[in-house]
Amino acid sequence: MITKLTVESFKSLESVEIELGAVNVFVGANGSGKSNLLEAIGVLSAAANGRVDDESLMRRGVRPGVPQLYKSAFPIKRQPPHIFFGAANTQTNYEVSLLNPLRGPQAPWRYKTELWESKGQEPVSRSPRTQPKPNPEQGLAALEAVRR
Ligand SMILES: Nc1ncnc2c1ncn2[C@@H]1O[C@H](COP(=O)(O)OP(=O)(O)O)[C@@H](O)[C@H]1O
Ligand SMILES: [Mg+2]
Repeated sequence: MITKLTVESFKSLESVEIELGAVNVFVGANGSGKSNLLEAIGVLSAAANGRVDDESLMRRGVRPGVPQLYKSAFPIKRQPPHIFFGAANTQTNYEVSLLNPLRGPQAPWRYKTELWESKGQEPVSRSPRTQPKPNPEQGLAALEAVRR
């Protein structure tokens, strides 16, 4: 169960960190970002499963859109070029930053950084400096989960 969720630069969510319980209720006016938060979990789930594209997003209930529309349109100070998601519980922490594909809605989103930490296991991570360069369209945490 996810107990802490972090979202940055996704749609109307500039920088959000929330603690979650067993039952969570989101209350707010139309257009205040409730569905965007649920979509963020959808993108995070796709990323943790190894591939973020139209198909994997739609399967998770993320509303389809052109790539630019996924990224926050707010002029955040020093806005990162990526969208960031994090989910944690007492055993596991997963963080991923994804580059929004601007070249076309068919292209899978590209992984920029990824970190998967699970108690008692070697952490899995990537960064722009990782050598040799892993496939930017394939999540390493998902690959490693299959291997173990
Ligand atoms: N890329 C974006 N950047 C900034 N705001 C966005 C972006 N995409 C959608 N929004 C805003 O998100 C809001 C919709 O949020 P949504 O989660 O659907 O609301 P709710 O479910 O609470 O009714 C709208 O106000 C819309 O303008
Ligand atoms: Mg809604």
